[in-house]
Amino acid sequence: MVHNGIIENWRELAEQLRTEGHTFVSDTDTEVIAHLVERELSGGCSLAAAVRATLREVRGAFALAVMCAGEPGTIVAGRRVSPLIIGMGDGESGEGLLASDIPALLGRTRRFWVLDDDQVVVLRPGSMLVTTLQGKEVEPKELHVDWDLEAAEKGGYPDFMGKEIHEQPRAIADTLLGRLLADGTVELDEFRITDDELRHVDKVFVVACGSSYHAGMVAKYAIERLARLRTEIDIASEFRYRDPVLDDRTLVVGVSQSGETIDTLQAMREARQWDAKIMVISNVVDSSMAREADGVLYTRAGPEVGVAATKTHLTQVVALELLALYLAQLRGFAEPADARVLFADLARLPELVERALAPGRDAEVAEIAGKFADTRDFFFLGRHVGFPVALEGALKLKEISYLRAEGYPAGELKHGPIALIVPGTVVVGVATRTHLWEKMMGNVAEVRARGATVVLVANEGDEETAAQADEVLWVPRTHPLFAPVIDVVPLQLLAYHIARAHGHDVDRPRNLAKTVTVE
Ligand code: F6R
Repeated sequence: MVHNGIIENWRELAEQLRTEGHTFVSDTDTEVIAHLVERELSGGCSLAAAVRATLREVRGAFALAVMCAGEPGTIVAGRRVSPLIIGMGDGESGEGLLASDIPALLGRTRRFWVLDDDQVVVLRPGSMLVTTLQGKEVEPKELHVDWDLEAAEKGGYPDFMGKEIHEQPRAIADTLLGRLLADGTVELDEFRITDDELRHVDKVFVVACGSSYHAGMVAKYAIERLARLRTEIDIASEFRYRDPVLDDRTLVVGVSQSGETIDTLQAMREARQWDAKIMVISNVVDSSMAREADGVLYTRAGPEVGVAATKTHLTQVVALELLALYLAQLRGFAEPADARVLFADLARLPELVERALAPGRDAEVAEIAGKFADTRDFFFLGRHVGFPVALEGALKLKEISYLRAEGYPAGELKHGPIALIVPGTVVVGVATRTHLWEKMMGNVAEVRARGATVVLVANEGDEETAAQADEVLWVPRTHPLFAPVIDVVPLQLLAYHIARAHGHDVDRPRNLAKTVTVE
């Protein structure tokens, strides 16, 4: 059997099984399931009936699949909370496939179904039968997947991450398509929350994990600035347990590329209990969050195979900017003169990201990465919207290069972290032109004075910034609110090239899963 998740009552079940004579070879919750299935099978029932009976006994979150020697050619699978996708190969003897998410199966089939909570599927060559835990047959829900096979191949790149970084201009253009209209307005399609309901909202909570959280941080700046609507950003695993104050005038926005991250999903469920309106920004059509939310805004990045989020992160920021503009459109722009400039700049993002990724730029970043191949510690600094960019740059480096990288708001440096800056410490600063540029450069001067080696993300042609840097990561300039979309690109490339210089598998970093379906 294969099990993903946590069985909460496994100790008491194990205790009971031991008294019945079962011998355990490990101290894991997973083994308990195997023993429970064995117990049912020895009573003479089929594998499917045994799994159903077992799942009626266990508490917790799980997606699992079981085979047994007595019933060759059969896989029985079930789930609660943790996701499970079913795929079927073509033809009568079509293979049955199971996975946590769609990209894992894209190379094998285009026909997918989703298993709901407390359902069990019996897969045999060419056939599948879905039932409830009581054995009642149910119609499985087919998933509409328009991702093509090409998207699941490397297409000439050495790895998926490299390919996905370079797909970002297209992914952003697709995410804007049909939403940013020629008349300078935003239209949000699969939204399912009415304009009146949105006008009623007096507070927004953005809830997410990891890179999606960093994207969510940008939304706070955008929604508060453009729509003057109070916005809080929370790490999903904290939000759930800290008694946030929510009511029917609260909009909770879950940001999750997979739409399956358990902490974000449970945070949304928590918010539902307080009558809040729930919306999700997801890359996966019909993901668990998308199915449960009142409104969905899909990022159209295509499947992301590399474990480190790149194109999904950028498109999340773009989707959140669209949401901020939409809310401002409904409630009136804080500064009406802003609107026209913003729409024009948003529409240009694909072209500007393309420029940040041009072969010459990529080669420059690779060369800079080569100079830091032996560096073990990095600081990433930013202010305002540059702060989430610094956090995301640091996270990318940590997860694929296994190097220590700290992201800080630059103004916070003197409250402690500056003690760590010594001659040779590498500081990567986001120093593109926003209203805080001068203050950011003041912070850069502080670290330079202590001997740090400074790498700055700077706008093309900005020699004044370049003069304060040992190395420069050049990016095109845009409206400050959209700068996170562009400024993070060289930081993705920096992490990518450093990781490759170390010989790491950038697509499958150690200890990490693409979809985090356990707490
Ligand atoms: C980082 C990364 C993770 C995810 C996080 C949330 O590169 O991929 O930090 O961003 O696990 O995942 P989703 O967006 O699927 O909820």
